[in-house]
Amino acid sequence: MKLCVIKGDGIGHEVVPAAVRILQQLMPEVEVVYGRAGWDCFEQTGQALPATTIQLARESQAVLFGACSSPSYAVEGYASPIVQLRRATETYANLRPTRFLPVPTAREGVDLVVVRENTEDLYIGDEHTADAGDTGTATKRITRRASERIAHTAFRLARQEGRHRVTIVHKGNVLPQTDGLFRRVAYEVSRQYSDIETDELLVDTAAYWMVKEPTRFDVILTPNLYGDILSDMAAAWGGGLGMAPALNLGDEVAIAEPVHGSAPDIAGQGIANPTAAVLSAAMLARHKWGQVTIADHIEAAVHRALSRGEHTADVSGGIGMSTAAFVDAICAELG
Ligand code: NAI
Ligand code: MG
Repeated sequence: MKLCVIKGDGIGHEVVPAAVRILQQLMPEVEVVYGRAGWDCFEQTGQALPATTIQLARESQAVLFGACSSPSYAVEGYASPIVQLRRATETYANLRPTRFLPVPTAREGVDLVVVRENTEDLYIGDEHTADAGDTGTATKRITRRASERIAHTAFRLARQEGRHRVTIVHKGNVLPQTDGLFRRVAYEVSRQYSDIETDELLVDTAAYWMVKEPTRFDVILTPNLYGDILSDMAAAWGGGLGMAPALNLGDEVAIAEPVHGSAPDIAGQGIANPTAAVLSAAMLARHKWGQVTIADHIEAAVHRALSRGEHTADVSGGIGMSTAAFVDAICAELG
């Protein structure tokens, strides 16, 4: 088994080594190789995601990705490395679970997973300006093929995890040709999974319920953009961005990736919460390598460490442990 590790920028350099340490403690047979990507890489090499990194990711078939900094303005030659890498590896599904964990900022009873389509929608990068820069236009693409495969992923996951309901989230009332297609195809696929209940919500209503009553959600099946936003909202109920794991899944490659970004405001201070990265690594072990026992073991160790009141400062709004001390606490729980 091979693992391609891409730390990226900022706190990627702090949380990814923590996750690698835990994986290596339990799976010493995994061969780790390192690839570069991100803003620092772009400044040094002129490439945000070098072809050698894509090659390593494809060969390894399993990737642990930290976070990359992307400016919110156009930079010639720069495009978000993770969006590019997802595309290059055809990792079409993005699984983003939020489960209650015993920290002061989490909401009891929340246990949901956002299944986000990962290859199309407004994120295809077809964006241009006209009118001397005063008019911007982006293409939103939804296809039957991508909608079908993400719907199957959501319903299969629901079965696998003993979940009961899939909620299709869309804006088909305003966008009948795109979101309407996504909705229609999702309902078609749902007929093959009669043991799972299917319902739907418009995305604005879903956002309302995500704030008001997050425990009502089980599996959320949604296009790329809404999935990005709703999963960050959901992350707040899991204790914050530092707690939120994700896995990009394709037929060949899987990329474990915490939901958070490079957190430049705290980078280099040794206080970043490694939980999201560690739980992402556990998802990789579970879904890519089929190591269910190891994944359960990692999740239980994180749970026990947190239950004992050990955590970084971001989940308490006050004081907390350093990244290194918290990783030691998890490792101690692993036995
Ligand atoms: P962010 O997730 O980096 O940070 C948002 C807030 O959450 C910050 O206050 C940060 O300190 C805190 N935070 C995030 N992760 C944390 C952790 N593990 N432990 C403790 N606190 C944590 O989002 P932001 O600030 O919007 O973006 C910063 C940079 O990251 C941008 O350049 C953005 O493009 C990039 N980004 C990259 C992503 C990726 O590579 N997958 C995803 C999201 C943002
Ligand atoms: Mg996001």
